[in-house]
Amino acid sequence: MCGIVGYIGKNRAIDFLIDGLKCLEYRGYDSAGIALKDKKMQVIKSLGRISELENKINEMSVIDAKLGIAHTRWATHGVPSEINAHPHTVGKVTIVHNGIIENVEFLKKQLLDDNVLFKSETDTEVLAAIINKYYDGDVLGTLEKVFNIVRGSYALAIIFEDKDELYAIRKDSPLILGVGDGEYFIASDIIPIVKYTNQYMLIEEGEVAELTSSGINIYFNRKKIKKDILKTSVMSQDREKCGYKHYMLKEINEEPIVLKQLIDKFFDYIKDFPKLSCYEEIHIVACGSALYAGMIGKCLFEEYTNIKVICEVASEYRYNRVLYDRKTLVILISQSGETADTIAALRKAKKENIDTLAIVNVKESTIARESDMQIYIEAGPEIAVATTKAYILQVAIMGLLCYREIGRNEKLDNELGRLPRMLKEIIDHRDEYKKLAKKIFNNEDIFFIGRKIDYAMALEGSLKLKEISYIHSEAYQAGELKHGTISLIEDDMPVFAIITDPDISDKTLSNLEEVKARGAKTIVISNELINDQLLQVVVPKVSAFFQPVLVVPVLQMIAYEVAKLRGCDIDKPKNLAKSVTVE
Ligand code: F6R
Repeated sequence: MCGIVGYIGKNRAIDFLIDGLKCLEYRGYDSAGIALKDKKMQVIKSLGRISELENKINEMSVIDAKLGIAHTRWATHGVPSEINAHPHTVGKVTIVHNGIIENVEFLKKQLLDDNVLFKSETDTEVLAAIINKYYDGDVLGTLEKVFNIVRGSYALAIIFEDKDELYAIRKDSPLILGVGDGEYFIASDIIPIVKYTNQYMLIEEGEVAELTSSGINIYFNRKKIKKDILKTSVMSQDREKCGYKHYMLKEINEEPIVLKQLIDKFFDYIKDFPKLSCYEEIHIVACGSALYAGMIGKCLFEEYTNIKVICEVASEYRYNRVLYDRKTLVILISQSGETADTIAALRKAKKENIDTLAIVNVKESTIARESDMQIYIEAGPEIAVATTKAYILQVAIMGLLCYREIGRNEKLDNELGRLPRMLKEIIDHRDEYKKLAKKIFNNEDIFFIGRKIDYAMALEGSLKLKEISYIHSEAYQAGELKHGTISLIEDDMPVFAIITDPDISDKTLSNLEEVKARGAKTIVISNELINDQLLQVVVPKVSAFFQPVLVVPVLQMIAYEVAKLRGCDIDKPKNLAKSVTVE
């Protein structure tokens, strides 16, 4: 949450900063700001999107400055407003911050006792004030003192009024340093940087990066240390919409390609990984859609491998008492690899010496780096806030891991070979989804039902719809509705039923009849044609391992078309941010 960028080098800082903020807007977009330093420092801020900020930059007298920092905000402390927007300046210190300071009240009290006056309600201004309080001209010494007393998470870019360098420091929030030709960059992720350079460095907790106009120095315990320069495979065109109206639509349309790439590499890639059957228990831990991918994994692993699986939301798992009394594998699923709760769950398992496997998209991320084993999703950058292609690959990996356990066979290998093409055909039926969307986009409540693995898919369908269209939606285990929720069913209320598991399809159909009898408009998504269903989408029937990969894109497309008809800001839904780096 929140995106930060910084620049120092031979060119105008403003060009990278604005461009970089646009790339990071998915991380938060309630306000934004820029600080440029030439002979003097100048800060501008605005409420709302980066475009609002862009309208103001011509007012800046230091527009040609070659040093600057900028921020796009997802509010934590303090409402979205111009005053609360970053950068924050106190005395000689100007900072942009991604993260959250936990002992802010304690720090603030000390500063109020020193008669410091605060303009904003943010924890970041307190942080700037505490750095300023200790600043005596020695940056490394000051940062060491300050970060011994500050608790919480932070990725910070800092400019000091009396220095010509740019500084960066991080703890539990992501930060990448770009190494260009006579220009150096700071960004919350690699995307803003790839247009300028494919070389980058990572900094770890406790290290301080000093960016000068001729290079980057990294210090640990005030001593200069050597860092490797890495190369990213992310390409500049990954940032573009490539003719699609929205990133979400582009990313859904990339699903068949990235699925094929995954299938082609998967078995070779994991040939040296321990089999799931080496473990007596598996814990799958994740948040949001990644959790729902994990729930699909739970259904498959338990059904086909006889291993006990617990699937839990990371924000609970991290605080729950977890009894690791059997040989356990903890699987963490995360697109960004930076979700704060999932990181905490990973660290909890590691503290107990439990094996950890990360299924993660962003290779440079904390989860990828700290886990024992990694399966990279390799979906490429996902820009739309709502996950689509990364989710599909998470689900595919669940199926592939399970398939590997039972032993490969020709029939299923053939089916796998055909899967990307089947997926493409499903996505291409756009007119069908548009028609369906027209029938439901005016409703304000929509339910999804399913049983077992179909319920896991229903959860994802419901989440995708509500997060981008703002229609209230809930997903229920089909048998559970009549224990209370059915009282909400009214005439014309859409109820989606996911029906792919032949063992319980009759049961779900009976539940569907119950809501139909109470006036609901029912829509079936199934892998067989079901009689007497007016609204129905039928996908090809494949083995249970791979069936979700063909069902969920239908739900994604319907959510997309509904949100479009409602005129929503599909790629950047309100109140959300892509990378949830605070708990
Ligand atoms: C929903 C969505 C979120 C994420 C969740 C976890 O469309 O994108 O629910 O799945 O915030 O994020 P990652 O996978 O980055 O850990």
